[in-house]
Amino acid sequence: MEIKLTKETGDMLLDIENPLLLTYKEKAPGSFKHSEEVATVCDKIGRELKLDTNILRILGLYHDIGKIWYPEYYCENQPKNMNIHDTLNPVISAHYIISHIANSIAILTTQVPDIPIEIVRCISMHHGNRILKSIYNKLNDEEKQQYDITKFKYPYNAPDNIYAIVLMVSDSVEATLKGLRAAGKADENNINEIITNIITDLTKEEQIEELTYKQGRIITEVLISEYNAVNHKRVTTNYEPSVTNSN
Ligand SMILES: [Fe+2]
Ligand SMILES: [Fe+2]
Repeated sequence: MEIKLTKETGDMLLDIENPLLLTYKEKAPGSFKHSEEVATVCDKIGRELKLDTNILRILGLYHDIGKIWYPEYYCENQPKNMNIHDTLNPVISAHYIISHIANSIAILTTQVPDIPIEIVRCISMHHGNRILKSIYNKLNDEEKQQYDITKFKYPYNAPDNIYAIVLMVSDSVEATLKGLRAAGKADENNINEIITNIITDLTKEEQIEELTYKQGRIITEVLISEYNAVNHKRVTTNYEPSVTNSN
């Protein structure tokens, strides 16, 4: 897949000091940092897969830009020991969190009029049609009966191209590892397993079906070496999610 981007729009979007990114950094600093890290990882994966790394950096930087609106609803921007969702009805919580995708689309299409529609599409698919586990898994059995599960699902398509898949996997790994590290549950001993499990889960949930075996192995290798580099330790991959496409 080729995504055409004019030089002018590309230069503007990749300028880390552009007004949109400065606003993002100011209003939602945790989300901004996460996005920078996702952009770096997407770029590294893109080099190995011989994809357009400018497009991947843009996807990483802007995928959560909608969190400029209601930043306090997202854990990465919340102060310690203060979670607004503790006081909210779970359906309302899910609504706010899921809305970051629609908000990202709204901000990008109104504030970057020349943005290629393919970039907006890839961003719209970065959580696919997954269940919002951070809220849904906290429901008790009675609540699970009471509420329609679709209220806790992202209402978008699963990624249908390699750029959207790289974004989804990088985003998922970055956010999950950050959470586990903060809870003291991730270190050099289990980081490979965590990354492999995330990719296996995305495969089982039919979110990354367009991924070939070779691409999956390369993505896993890059992620493992990137996150182990933080621990000054390089480890080999053992990629084996059950993907059927063997190209
Ligand atoms: Fe997101
Ligand atoms: Fe994200």
